[in-house]
Amino acid sequence: MSFRFLVPSEKVPVVDGRSLLFVEGKTIALFNIASVFYAFEDSCPHQGASMWSGKLEGQILQCCAHGLRFDLATGYLLHSTQMKLSTYLVEVQGEQVFIVLNRGEQYAAL
Ligand code: FES
Repeated sequence: MSFRFLVPSEKVPVVDGRSLLFVEGKTIALFNIASVFYAFEDSCPHQGASMWSGKLEGQILQCCAHGLRFDLATGYLLHSTQMKLSTYLVEVQGEQVFIVLNRGEQYAAL
C-alpha cells in the first residue's frame, strides 16, 4: 500500500536546490533540477554513503565516497543497471509536493 507524504513547504527545494527529509524512519533526499523533482533514499547502493551532498552535473549525481555516478531520472548507475538508488515518485499539485512511499516495503524494512 502506498501513501503520499506532503513535503513541508519550507523543505521544498528551490530550483537547483536540494533538501533532506526524515519520513517514518527513512532519510530521503529531494532535489529540484530545472523544476523537476527527484526523490530517493539517501543511501548509496554501493556502500551506503549519503548521496545528498554529492556533486551534481545536470541530473547526474556523483557519490562523495567512491565517485560512482547515478542518473536521477532512472536511479541507475550511469551506463549500467547493476546498481540503483531507491527512488520515489514525486507528485506536484499546485504549490504542494508529495513523495509517494510504499508503506508495505517500508514496514518490511523495519
Ligand atoms: S558508497 Fe557511494 S560510491 Fe561507494
